[in-house]
Amino acid sequence: MSKLLILNWKMNPATLEEALFLAMESDYKDVVVAPPFPFIEEVGKILKKAELGAQDLFWEDKGAFTGEVSAKELKSIGVKYVIIGHSERRHKLGETDEMIAKKLKAAADNGLIPVLCVGETKAEKDAVKKEAVIKRQLEKGLSLIGQKSKVKSQMLLIAYEPVWAIGTGDPETPESALKTINYIKKLLKTTDKSLQIKVLYGGSVNSQNLGDYLKYKEVEGALVGGASLKKEEVQKMVKLI
Ligand code: PGA
Repeated sequence: MSKLLILNWKMNPATLEEALFLAMESDYKDVVVAPPFPFIEEVGKILKKAELGAQDLFWEDKGAFTGEVSAKELKSIGVKYVIIGHSERRHKLGETDEMIAKKLKAAADNGLIPVLCVGETKAEKDAVKKEAVIKRQLEKGLSLIGQKSKVKSQMLLIAYEPVWAIGTGDPETPESALKTINYIKKLLKTTDKSLQIKVLYGGSVNSQNLGDYLKYKEVEGALVGGASLKKEEVQKMVKLI
């Protein structure tokens, strides 16, 4: 079975023109392109084989929430996947596990496929708290979709992204990522059986190292930031999924 490559452009590129060019070069099957909000709709029109993703959402459907974007709004322009609880939102913007749980429920209730990001900081790793942190992030993040949820989504993705490996060029070793991914899968055994769950790795993934992660069947894809902005990198990575 083919694996999934999620391209998280973060707050890049700066213009619609560049975004459309990059989207054209990233339009492959089993790829999800997650552009900044202003470009999502136009990028969606370009994509024929890749799916459209968003980098965040808000939990309410509509109303007086200046600057926020709802699951229904995203669905209405063809978004299929939504990244939730990215470490940059957790650590730079103060997003809490409780906020993440509400976002995840809103996504799942509206039939968007959530991509829940979990992962420890360097300090947590050094203090041997990695497993405890991941357990908390998973339990709290998934707390509102519960055991017998009536969510519309058929699928849930978890991205294991060690915070210290993101954007640093210092990825987690494939062997250690595999160990943590197996731990995540063990924790998820009690989750609603009707949900298909896949676990991905993220953190300084590029065309040179992607194959080393994907060779393990348990690693069901990758969430890629920096390398997703270079068309040559995307084209090489797509050959590996
Ligand atoms: P990176 O980012 O590939 O640049 O490390 C990954 C991410 O933040 O999802």
